[in-house]
Amino acid sequence: MAERTKVVVVSGGTAGMGRAVARAERGDRVVAIGSDPVKGRALVDAGRGRIDFLPADLSSIAATRAAIATIRERHPAVDALALFANRVAPARRLTAEGLEQTFALYYLSRYLLSHGLRDHLDRAPAPLIVNVAGVGVRKGRIHWDDLQLARRYRMVGAQLQAGRANDLLGVDFASHGARARYVLYHPGFTRSGDTSPLPPPLRLALRVASVVARPVADSARPIVEWIDTPPAAPLTAMDRARSVPLDTPTLDPATAARLAAATADLLEQATLDERG
Ligand SMILES: NC(=O)c1ccc[n+]([C@@H]2O[C@H](COP(=O)([O-])OP(=O)(O)OC[C@H]3O[C@@H](n4cnc5c(N)ncnc54)[C@H](OP(=O)(O)O)[C@@H]3O)[C@@H](O)[C@H]2O)c1
Repeated sequence: MAERTKVVVVSGGTAGMGRAVARAERGDRVVAIGSDPVKGRALVDAGRGRIDFLPADLSSIAATRAAIATIRERHPAVDALALFANRVAPARRLTAEGLEQTFALYYLSRYLLSHGLRDHLDRAPAPLIVNVAGVGVRKGRIHWDDLQLARRYRMVGAQLQAGRANDLLGVDFASHGARARYVLYHPGFTRSGDTSPLPPPLRLALRVASVVARPVADSARPIVEWIDTPPAAPLTAMDRARSVPLDTPTLDPATAARLAAATADLLEQATLDERG
C-alpha cells in the first residue's frame, strides 16, 4: 500500500525557520500561512506542487478563524502544526479587533490554531504541534491585569509576555488528553527574523550580531525530525538541544490553566463585540 502523504500546516511559513521547514525536501503536503502574497508565491514556485500558500493576517482573530476553516475544509486530517508567525512591534499597535498586536499575532493565533485544528490532528496517526518561541527564558511575565499592555508598552516586554503565554499554551494543551504531542522549542539566536519594523541603528546592530547566530537550517532541523517522528511524551520542552525540565516555574500547570481561562474569556468577549 502507498504511504499516506502527511499534511503539515506551517504558520509563518513564508520566511525564516518556517520557510525552511516548509521547503524541507519531503513527501508532505504543506499548507504555509503568511500575510505576504509575494513571499507566498515564491514559496509555492519553490515547492514544485507540494506547497499551498494560505494568505492570512494572523493578528486578526477573524482571519485566523477563516484560515482554520479553510484548512478543515480542504484536509480531513492534519499531521503536524508548526507555529512560527511573529513580528516585532516597536510601538504599541492595536489590531482591528482592539488587541495589542504582539499578543494577537505571536500568542493568540497559536492558541486558535492549536485548538481549532485539535480534532483534525486527532485523526492523524501520529500528530504533532511544534510551538517555536522562547521556552526556558525566565525573563518577562504575564501582565494579568493588563494583558493588552495598555498602561506600559515595551517591545521586548510584549515579546516576552507572548513567548511565556506560548509556553503556558503548550502546558495546558498537553494536559487535556489530545493525541497530538506538543513540543515547545526555543531555537536560540538564529539568522532569521524580519527586522524591517525596527529603527535603523537596531537593525544594524542585529545584522552585526547575526554573524554569531545559528544558521536557519540548523535551527529548523529538529522540527523536521519531530514531524517525521514525534516524541512519545505529551509535552516536550527544548531550548536548542537541551531539555527544559517540565517542573521549571515558567511551565507551571496552574498558571497555564489560568491563562487558558483568561484567553477563553477574551475570545468570548471578542466574539460578542463582533456580533454587536
Ligand atoms: N530568529 C531568532 O533568533 C529567534 C530566536 C528565538 C525565538 N525565535 C522565534 O522563532 C519564531 C520564528 O522566527 P523567525 O526568525 O523564523 O521569524 P521570521 O523570519 O521573521 O518569520 C516570521 C514569519 O511570520 C509571518 N508573519 C508575520 N506577521 C504575520 C501576520 N500578521 N500574519 C501571518 N503571518 C505573519 C511572516 O510571513 P509574512 O511576512 O508573509 O507575513 C514569516 O513567515 C518566532 O516566534 C520567533 O519569536 C526566533
